[in-house]
Amino acid sequence: MIEKIISDKFFGGGLIMSPSNGENVRKLDYDVIIKLFEKHGVILFRGFNLKPEEITEITDLYTQHYAHDALRRASRMGQELVRTVDYDSHDALLRAHRITQADMVKKKDEDWKVDYDSYEEMSLHSESSYAPDYPEIIWFFCNEFFTNGRGCTTLCDGIKLWDNLVYETKNFFLLNPIRYKLTIPIAEKKIGNGTKKWLINQQGAGDGLLDLSNGLLNITQIRFAVHPSRLPDKMCFSNHILYRDTDPNILEWGTIDGNKIPQNILDEVKEKSKELTYDLDWKKNDFVMLDNKRFIHGRRTFKKSDKRDIMIVETSSANFAYGSTTRRKINQNKIS
Ligand SMILES: [Fe+2]
Repeated sequence: MIEKIISDKFFGGGLIMSPSNGENVRKLDYDVIIKLFEKHGVILFRGFNLKPEEITEITDLYTQHYAHDALRRASRMGQELVRTVDYDSHDALLRAHRITQADMVKKKDEDWKVDYDSYEEMSLHSESSYAPDYPEIIWFFCNEFFTNGRGCTTLCDGIKLWDNLVYETKNFFLLNPIRYKLTIPIAEKKIGNGTKKWLINQQGAGDGLLDLSNGLLNITQIRFAVHPSRLPDKMCFSNHILYRDTDPNILEWGTIDGNKIPQNILDEVKEKSKELTYDLDWKKNDFVMLDNKRFIHGRRTFKKSDKRDIMIVETSSANFAYGSTTRRKINQNKIS
């Protein structure tokens, strides 16, 4: 196996893994991959000649639950099924909707901002970091990428970004959680009448109200923009605060007192993240395992005529514990 660093812009450099002797990505050692993933936060598997239909065979190996985000794309959701909407029993819901694992591999849905003949740049963000169901791992697969250098996926390491912020900015985010008011589509159309209170058993999520007439869940989510990483003594600044004009699911956001985040603080984050952003120029069949609680990602602008087909799978919870390979016995704090 050939292992290379992706970029000095990442703490630890990130990792590219390529076969040296025809190794199969599905046969890689589970414990080794988890250790490398927890250490680097990003692994780019390149040159394994993976096919799109094989992706979930790999993601299944590391996943306890997939994210509910896929449900937004469920083709139908009748009233009876809505009663089964229980964010704690995802597998039951999948079965109820007959959603297969293959459906979990979906086109990236970030192309909703169309500006005539090109797609706008997508700001750095952590996938669904504003939502109750915040994926631990996201997986990207490059099915096609012929863009003349346009449309790179941007990556920024939230550990490195946090370490580079000034005292005032850190102090602000350590003290102030962000409050998001959300409207999340859960069905394609009307699924009943009126509204119904809805509880999601997740920290920071509350005031849930199902809008049955429109197939929406309105809910408030409170979450810190910075949180502990998998590495000892390191924090990750990984969130949605750089996202321009917000996501269509976000109606309002700011501090829990209802204030906006001070502009000078946002400007600093923007400037520092720009310096630390790496442009991933995809090769066909590249496959990326990304720590979504650590890294933020985005996309450069590209033209509609460019051939760009990047797929995403979202692992809500991994089947290995957070920090399971990076914690050390006392007096052994150095990461090897
Ligand atoms: Fe994204």
